[in-house]
Amino acid sequence: MVQARKSRTKSFGILTAGGDCPGLNAAIRGVCMAAAGRYGMKIIGIMNGFKGFLDESYRTLAPADYCGILTHGGTILGASREKPFDSVEKPGKIADDKVRIICEAYRKLELDCLVALGGNGTNTTASKLAREGLNVIGLPKTIDNDIVGTDLTFGFDSALSVGTDAIDRLCTTAQSHNRIIVIELMGNKAGWLALYAGVAGGGDIILIPEIPYDLKAIGRHLQRRAAAGKTFSVVVAAEGAMSVEEAQMEKKERKKYRKENGPSTAYRIAREINEQTGLETRATVLGYMQRGGTPSASDRLLATALGTAAADLLARGEYGRMVSVTGSGIGSVDLSVPEGKKRTVPADNQMLDTALAVETCLGVDF
Ligand code: F6P
Repeated sequence: MVQARKSRTKSFGILTAGGDCPGLNAAIRGVCMAAAGRYGMKIIGIMNGFKGFLDESYRTLAPADYCGILTHGGTILGASREKPFDSVEKPGKIADDKVRIICEAYRKLELDCLVALGGNGTNTTASKLAREGLNVIGLPKTIDNDIVGTDLTFGFDSALSVGTDAIDRLCTTAQSHNRIIVIELMGNKAGWLALYAGVAGGGDIILIPEIPYDLKAIGRHLQRRAAAGKTFSVVVAAEGAMSVEEAQMEKKERKKYRKENGPSTAYRIAREINEQTGLETRATVLGYMQRGGTPSASDRLLATALGTAAADLLARGEYGRMVSVTGSGIGSVDLSVPEGKKRTVPADNQMLDTALAVETCLGVDF
C-alpha cells in the first residue's frame, strides 16, 4: 500500500459556485483524487455553491463520487449564484446573516479549508471569507476568461470551440442568402470569447465591450465588402457590446435603451445595422450552449492541473490563495488579487491587431 504523503490539511470542503462551465468536474476530480489519493485527506462536498452551507446540504465524498467524471459536463456538486455577503453588505434586504451561518457550518464540519471553484463572484466571496477567518483556496473557472490573477480560466477553451463552430455554420447560411447575421456570444462585461471565436471563425466584424462601436464605421465596412463582391457578413458580438452612444449613457439610461431595443444584444445590433445600411440582417443568440457539454482536451488538462495544484496547496497549508496560470506555468496568487475585479481585453492585446490585420472590423475606424 502506498503511504499517504504528509499534509497540513486533514479535511476540507469543496463547492462550485456561479455559472457552470465545461471542466468543473475535471477540476473536482483533480482536487479530490490528489487530495485523497496522495495525501489521505477527508473531503466534504458542499452542494449548490455557498447555498449548500445555508441549506445544510453537504456530505462526505468517496472516490466513487469523483472518479469517472473527467469528461462530464456540468458539476456533480451543483451550482448557484448565492452571494452570502449581500446579507451583510445590503442590510435590511436579506434577513439572515448568511456569512455567520457559513462560518458556523465550516466549524461544525471541522473543516481545515474550503476549496471554492468559481468565477469573479466566487473568488471575491472566497477572499472575503478568508478575511472572516476561514481558510479558503480558490480555483478560476469561467467561460468568460475574465479573472484577474490568471491568464486563463478553464471553460474558456470549450466555449471558444462551440462559438467558433457556430460562426462557421452561420457563415455558410449567410453566404447562401446574401445576409448579415449577428451572433451573440457570452462573456459578461469582457470580450475575450467574442474576440477569440471571432478571429477563429473568420468573423467579418467583431464587437466587444472594450471598444464601443460606431454604426457608421460598421456601415462603411459593409459597403467596402459589398464593393469587393462580398455580399454577406457575420458579425460576432459579445453580450456586453455597446455603441459609442450607449457608452456615454448613464447606467439607468442604458438599461432603459436596452429594454426598449431588446430582446438581446444581437437583436439590438441587427436592428441598428439594418436601419443604418438597409441590408437584410438576422440575429442568433448562442446562449447556454457555450456552458454545457464535455470539456475540450485543453480544458481537461488545465482543470486537472489546477485541481491537483490546489491539492498541493492544501497539503502545504497555503491558504488564502487562488491557483492560477501565467506564462511561467501553474502557480497561485493571493485571493485578494481577483477580488472585486474583472479582466477585460486590454487595448494592446495582440489578438486585436491580428483581427485588424485580416481585415476584420472592430466596430470603429482604425
Ligand atoms: O459568467 C458566465 C456567464 O455565462 C456569462 O457569460 C453570462 O453573462 C452569465 O454567466 C449568465 O448568467 P446566468 O447563468 O445567471 O444566466
